[in-house]
Amino acid sequence: MSSSVYSRYRAAFAQGLATALGVPASDIEAQIKPAEPAHGDLSFATFPLAKAQKKAPPAIAAGLAQSVSVPGLEIKAVGPYVNARFAPLPFTAEVIDAARAAGLSYGGDPEAGRGKTVTIDYSSPNIAKPIGFHHIRTTFLGHCIANIYRALGWKVEGINYLGDWGKQFGLVAVGFQEYGDPARIDDMGHLVEVYVKANKRAEAEPEFDEKAREFFRRMEAGDAEALKMWSQFRETSIKGFRKIYERMGIEFEHIEGESRYQGKMDAVIEQIAKKPGVKESEGALVVDLPYADNEPPILLKKKDGSTLYATRDLAAAQDRYERFHFDKSLYVVAQDQALHFRQVFRTLKEMGHPWADRVVHVAFGRIGGMSTRLGRLVHLTDVLDEAKERASAIVKKNIEEGRLHTDDPDKLSEQIGLGSVVFGDLKHNRASDYTFNWDEVVSLDGHTGAYLQYAHARTVNVLRKGGGAPASYDASLLTLPEEQALLREIMRLPEVVRNAAEDYEPSLIARLLLDVAAVFSRFYTLGNQDREKRIIVEDNDALRAARLALTDATRVTLAAGLTLLGIPTPDNM
Ligand code: ARG
Repeated sequence: MSSSVYSRYRAAFAQGLATALGVPASDIEAQIKPAEPAHGDLSFATFPLAKAQKKAPPAIAAGLAQSVSVPGLEIKAVGPYVNARFAPLPFTAEVIDAARAAGLSYGGDPEAGRGKTVTIDYSSPNIAKPIGFHHIRTTFLGHCIANIYRALGWKVEGINYLGDWGKQFGLVAVGFQEYGDPARIDDMGHLVEVYVKANKRAEAEPEFDEKAREFFRRMEAGDAEALKMWSQFRETSIKGFRKIYERMGIEFEHIEGESRYQGKMDAVIEQIAKKPGVKESEGALVVDLPYADNEPPILLKKKDGSTLYATRDLAAAQDRYERFHFDKSLYVVAQDQALHFRQVFRTLKEMGHPWADRVVHVAFGRIGGMSTRLGRLVHLTDVLDEAKERASAIVKKNIEEGRLHTDDPDKLSEQIGLGSVVFGDLKHNRASDYTFNWDEVVSLDGHTGAYLQYAHARTVNVLRKGGGAPASYDASLLTLPEEQALLREIMRLPEVVRNAAEDYEPSLIARLLLDVAAVFSRFYTLGNQDREKRIIVEDNDALRAARLALTDATRVTLAAGLTLLGIPTPDNM
């Protein structure tokens, strides 16, 4: 099992304490916490031992600090705590070498999830309907979570579960007869226009709405003509989506959708009828379960016999288990659908599926304020276009002012625009709602994607100017507090990636990268006041090589982290 520098030291410290105390190391390990930076790196609190030992915690700490010795750790008592600090050597070399040896896979661990499979349902837009705010978040979050699990050695089955079945096709179809231009049936934007008009009309005019329902009933009954039209709409939408995914560098293992379960739902309903049972409610068929007051029942079939979102998700969950035998099955979907997933998951459990406790709704909050110049409806393409346009203004200005260098301003603008929007989303806790502010999101300064891209490009640039990353270096020369602080940030990536996987929380990685960039910037700017502290220090080849090695480890950390987030890392900017 490959392990991180941090986890090795923590385990060794735990082992040392455990031996001294005569208890298993596993009892101690969970109690080791990061120390106050002024006092060390690792900390063990002795309070819990006081009662059994009938001694005051500071006395216990002092005794342990005397008797425990671990190579590479400087151990001492601070009040009731036993603290350990990473000795400059071999720690410095271990961190730098771990990052440089791993390269873009730094932070990952191919052993962690070996043999395990996770399905990740993400993006999952509705075809022929406008893409909503929530699709933007699920796309970024899901892509990042998929990257994280892959880096941890899991087999990832990313599923884009298109909303490609349901009454909305009825609406588009009957709407198309009224407002559609047959010559533009392959134009996604046109279909969305038609949908929006038809939807408005159906709200005002019950007969129109009934026509749409009738069309969907025909689809479910297998009517060839209705299905042909549906399939054209579907193709058009998928073609449109593909362009966006390509632009973002996203590839799904599976692009499928709700329509996959047409004709398969009766079998699922029969199964549910056996256990936990079905019943009729106001003409509709629902799952027979005790419901909370005010809880809407789980609908399987409407009065007119057509199936529903929940019916299809029940069929899909089983299908995913049969195909992939997942160890985890994630649904990266807006918090608004929490009730839906609670009910679907509860039904799976009541059906007796032993894997029902492996399914997780990875919920996220709302974004406000992301409208684009084109208006209130948000299309991911428009968001990316606007981001690129804004980035392009920044790129132009910075080139003119000599702050930025590139051979390909158009490509760089695209990369900065994309990086900004993705980072602007992923830096927020997924559960929280936030307001999107264009001026804050697309900027070279502040907590932005562009700032991190710039920090990364700066490392590349320093390495280039310094004659490249050195093959060998003397780690004992990196004694400045800023250098030691930077190592400690670089060291954190593997732990943070694990935590991000456990909590499905990309923001943890986003925030670590901001810390890495901030501490790197302190290291980098030291040389402004003091020539001796420059990275590319003159007349001292050994020191220069050591600082370049540290810069190289920083470069790797930023590149690996940004890549996990789904953010491009241009070398030049
Ligand atoms: N198409 C749905 C929507 O846009 C999201 C689907 C999420 N996945 C699922 N298995 N229900 O709201």
